[in-house]
Formats: sequence, structure tokens, C-alpha cells
Amino acid sequence: MNERNTLIENQYDLLGLFEDIVKRLKEQGVDLNHITRSDISGVDEFHLRGAEVSKELVTEFDLKNLNVLDVGCGLGGPCRMLADEFNCNVFGIDMSHEFIRTAQKLSEIIQINGKTEFVQGDALNLPYEDNSFDVVWTQHVQMNIEDKETFYSEINRVLNNNGTLIYYDIFKNVNDDIYYPVPWANDESISFLGTIENMETILKNLGFSKAQTTNQTDKAVEFLHNMFDKIKTNGPPKIGLNVLLGNSTKEKLGNVLIGLEEKKIELQSGIYKKQ
Ligand SMILES: C[S@@+](CC[C@H](N)C(=O)[O-])C[C@H]1O[C@@H](n2cnc3c(N)ncnc32)[C@H](O)[C@@H]1O
Repeated sequence: MNERNTLIENQYDLLGLFEDIVKRLKEQGVDLNHITRSDISGVDEFHLRGAEVSKELVTEFDLKNLNVLDVGCGLGGPCRMLADEFNCNVFGIDMSHEFIRTAQKLSEIIQINGKTEFVQGDALNLPYEDNSFDVVWTQHVQMNIEDKETFYSEINRVLNNNGTLIYYDIFKNVNDDIYYPVPWANDESISFLGTIENMETILKNLGFSKAQTTNQTDKAVEFLHNMFDKIKTNGPPKIGLNVLLGNSTKEKLGNVLIGLEEKKIELQSGIYKKQ
């Protein structure tokens, strides 16, 4: 693994993450034999607006029996949602060994492991054959990826003709510096925010056609304000993004909020079709 990949893995790695989640579930009195996706969705959907936005991205799709790949799947919450609610075959790949171990074990304890398959690996070198997937899905990953051409080329390579790319991502608006730390980077060494225009150009050059895009910035700002209000009133949740971000949760998410409000960064989701 190269040095930058190690830095990215260290940014997200939390040894004993699965055991920590189970401990927190026990402390909340959750019956460990009957854990549901909603018991863990506060932590296993590692992006702004969590499970709510993941569902929104696919409500209009019929994914039954399709092959779906989640690039940078984290702990696998979106994969479990897709497999469970849309009855498709979901594959997740992530750089972090600990996230992949946790993703596998979470799928086991909520008894969905036959429908999800997780592997540790690099988005820039996907370990799949050409034309393997009907849908490729990626949320909040490319801000750690400097080589965006290779990132989207790999997605293009593994997608079937007429396949669909679904993304939900953070982009920079201006060339100003952002405030660090943020959830994906403590400093600029592993933060590679690109502009929406740059992504559009790369996708167009690869032959993708744009089907739909949605500006998600205002909803993310509202989500962050609500989250901070709740923490002020009730304290940190037992199962929330604080499990992943630890003591720096307030600072990291606070810096994202300032960046969004100052329009240094923005959020967009979109659907592109491979021709
Ligand atoms: C903020 S998390 C999002 C996780 C997941 N997509 C979700 O929304 O729940 C970003 C993830 O991207 C992964 N990642 C970053 N660079 C990667 C790369 N080159 N290859 C694979 N995964 C990568 C990280 O390990 C981390 O799990």
C-alpha cells in the first residue's frame, strides 16, 4: 500500500469498531439477537443526512436482482439498505480493513450477510471484471481521491453498457482553502475536493450522459444544525457519527457546516448513464 493510502486508512481506522458498536447497542438495551438496520443506521451510513438520503437516491429505481457496487462502502449501511429493501446483489469495496471487517460482521448480526459481499481494496484499482455491474454507487468518497480520472474510469470499466452511476458527494466551490479538520482529512495532505465542473468533464469524456443532478447543500446545512441542536439538548447520541469521529466530531462537522454556509464547499447527488 502506498503512503497516501496508509494516511487515508489511518484517517478512518478505529480498531475494535464492531465491538464498540455492539457494546453501545447492549448499553441501550437492544436485543442482540434481533438487531435491525435502524438500530445501527446512525453509525453505518457515514455521510451527511445518513439513511434518509440513501433511500432518496434510489426511490425511483427498480433494482431487483441487479448487481450493485458501492465504491468506498465504509461500514456497509447503504449496501445493507439496498440489498434489504431493493432485493439486489450488493458488493462493497473500501480501503479500510477495519471498516470492511465491521461491515461483514454487521451484515452477519442483522442476518443479511447472504445479500452483501465486502472486500478491502482500492477504488483506483477495482478487483472486478469489466462490465460486471448494473449500478455503481458512491457516497462521500472522492474527496480523498486525487486521481479523479482513474476513479471515474474504473467505475466506467466495471459498469455494464447502459449501467447507472449514482453519487452523493462533496465538492469545492471555489479555490479557497477549507477549514480543517473535516471528517475525511485532518489537513490538506489527503483532501482532494474537486469541482462539479471537473467531474462533469471527466464523465462526459468517458462517454457518460447526465440523467439528473440535485443540489443537496441546503438539506445538509439543515441536517447539521438539527444535529448540533440535538447534541446541545440531549448530549451526543449513543449510536451516531460521533462513534466514528470521536472527540473531534463537533470540530470536524462544524468545519463542514461553516464551509457549506460560506459556500466554499457544496453537496450534489446525481445519476449518470453509461452509453
Ligand atoms: C466518509 S466515508 C463514506 C463511507 C460510505 N460511502 C458511506 O457513505 O457510508 C469515506 C470512505 O471512503 C473510503 N475511501 C477513501 N479512499 C478510498 C479509496 N481510494 N479506495 C477505497 N475506499 C476509499 C474510506 O476508507 C471511507 O470508508
